Amino acid sequence: MGAWKIGIMGGSGLYELDGLQDRQWHRVDTPWGAPSDELLSGTLHGVELVFLPRHGRGHRIPPGDLNARANIAALKAAGCTDVLSISAVGSLKEEHAPGSFVVIDQYIDRTVARPASFFGPGIVAHVSLADPVCPRLSELAFEAGRSNGVPIVNGGTYLAMEGPQFSTRAESHLYRSWGCDVIGMTGMPEARLAREAELPYACVGMVTDYDCWREHTADVQVTDVLAILKSNAEAGRKLVDTLVRSLPAEREPSPIDTTLDMAVITAPDLWE
Ligand code: ADE
Repeated sequence: MGAWKIGIMGGSGLYELDGLQDRQWHRVDTPWGAPSDELLSGTLHGVELVFLPRHGRGHRIPPGDLNARANIAALKAAGCTDVLSISAVGSLKEEHAPGSFVVIDQYIDRTVARPASFFGPGIVAHVSLADPVCPRLSELAFEAGRSNGVPIVNGGTYLAMEGPQFSTRAESHLYRSWGCDVIGMTGMPEARLAREAELPYACVGMVTDYDCWREHTADVQVTDVLAILKSNAEAGRKLVDTLVRSLPAEREPSPIDTTLDMAVITAPDLWE
């Protein structure tokens, strides 16, 4: 048992966290390079938080250029026990209307050009991704959203696309036929890397648009996304505040804390 230290990965529209006490932006570096921006540390209702704007303040870094390894490594090195991602997503289902939230529980990864593991030649590891998110943190996030009155669904499949262009209409219909709930450009490899880093990870998708599959609805444009991001981001901040207040005083260990105990295949005397 120990204290919580929650890493918050803020997506499009969420570049700051207000209400933090003893707040301080600080530059960090990692063996995988620099994260997207400085980390913002502070406490909220007595809980330590570390915030990282995924695209950098001012939204400078496109999804394909994000250094997800550095971002996750920076939160790990900062001592985070768990990571909550708040991400703008497009909807692939009628019931996920813009302005609603989906707590992600599965991913389909269609990214193609991103380093997706901390491991490689020298030390080989295969972590399980069967259940890619932390059920405990996901449940806390869902309950926080629900108690704030946000339209929120517990569970949904996130289609991670490469971008930066939005999908073709054929792709959008294909992902719907696969049963996907939402689509975004940043959920992978972030979720994989969090698991490799033994960080329990949850993702709240804030729906901004209906992508391009829905008849009589304009195809997604950045202007639509921006228009709804402002109110979504405010609801995202409130969710963080409520979640932090709902945390048990002591953190019980998670099985994800020891993921690598069962994942490394290279003989220990050969580790490089
Ligand atoms: N982020 C927000 N809306 C999106 C969409 N329709 N496709 C991919 N990423 C998104």
